[in-house]
Amino acid sequence: MYGFTRSLLFTLPPEPAHRLGMSGLAALGRMPSLCQSMRERTLRQAPMDLSVELAGLRFAHPVALAAGLDKDAEAVDGLFACGFSAVEIGTVTPKPQPGNPKPRLFRLPEHRAVINRMGFNNHGAATAASHLTGRAWKPGPLGVNIGKNKDTPLERAVDDYVACVDALAPLGDYVVVNASSPNTPGLRTLQEPEQLSALLRAVQERMGQVAPGTPLFLKIAPDLTPEAVDEVVDVALERGLSGLIATNTTITRPFEHKHSKEAGGLSGAPVRELSNAVIRRAYQRSRGTLPLIGVGGVFTAQDVYEKLRAGATVVQVYTGFIYEGPGMVGRILGDLGALLSRDGFATVRDVIGVDAHPGAPVAATP
Ligand SMILES: Cc1cc2nc3c(=O)[nH]c(=O)nc-3n(C[C@H](O)[C@H](O)[C@H](O)COP(=O)(O)O)c2cc1C
Repeated sequence: MYGFTRSLLFTLPPEPAHRLGMSGLAALGRMPSLCQSMRERTLRQAPMDLSVELAGLRFAHPVALAAGLDKDAEAVDGLFACGFSAVEIGTVTPKPQPGNPKPRLFRLPEHRAVINRMGFNNHGAATAASHLTGRAWKPGPLGVNIGKNKDTPLERAVDDYVACVDALAPLGDYVVVNASSPNTPGLRTLQEPEQLSALLRAVQERMGQVAPGTPLFLKIAPDLTPEAVDEVVDVALERGLSGLIATNTTITRPFEHKHSKEAGGLSGAPVRELSNAVIRRAYQRSRGTLPLIGVGGVFTAQDVYEKLRAGATVVQVYTGFIYEGPGMVGRILGDLGALLSRDGFATVRDVIGVDAHPGAPVAATP
């Protein structure tokens, strides 16, 4: 059914299509009993208990929504209605900002991919907070992904993250420091150990004051070298972070396409293996002690399965949702249960990281 809707949406340029889709999800969110029944119907497609625990939070299953789709927390209930186990809003910056000039979003359907250079277009922390205040329906964890305004000098970046913590951390179930968007100049340098450590320390201190006990994650890029992944993992462990989200979009272009010269981050199928490699490396470096949320190129249960086997406990989706539509979560749950049973795993927990252990057997292919 989404095939038809997608054909219509894809006749529009990407941003108007996005706005239309978001308006539909926001409208759905205003119908609580429909949201609840849609969600229940989706979750019933899981043939077995697929629930997982991460950083003390319970996820009904491992398929969650990635940041960037609902930057202003306009459609949280509509997105939970689609069956996602968790929804991550943002990236939110302290002040509203328009983002980069349009066009800034490009579809590459031949590659099941998207290039974006949105540039953290959002209405600011106060607006997102107003949308989250007084939420009545909380079927799963709500993540708050935070960043810095473009016009804040990099040396003052910490102030922006801390301001976002003040406004939003008390309203979320977990917080994500986004240091990996390619579309805010210099942002990715915050992943370097010294700067990263200072940033995380400041964020943790403030979270201790305004939202004690709330898990903190760091979202990293797929373009880090293996050694840089190790460094980030070491800082994360040292700082006692709840985990990493791996990964954001890539600035690499592994193919030629009429849009491949567009600046920005590439997402979807081409980022899948890059992100799996980062997940595997982070799992190995931490010897499985650092919880991981895997994201990049997830369309099917097989894609989810590979990320779990690489070491992720939860998997997020953005581009796959654009191409596959709201039916995707239910389809994945049914197929994921079948994959686990086929390979003799009784729970999702049993499969996490099996491909990241030294001498691990090669994953079975369908
Ligand atoms: C249009 C678009 C906007 C995005 N905006 C954000 C963002 O604001 N913050 C963020 O952390 N990630 C953002 N992302 C990255 C996604 O959350 C995700 O990490 C990445 O796209 C890889 O996953 P995917 O292949 O499932 O899309 C964005 C991705 C896209 C396609």
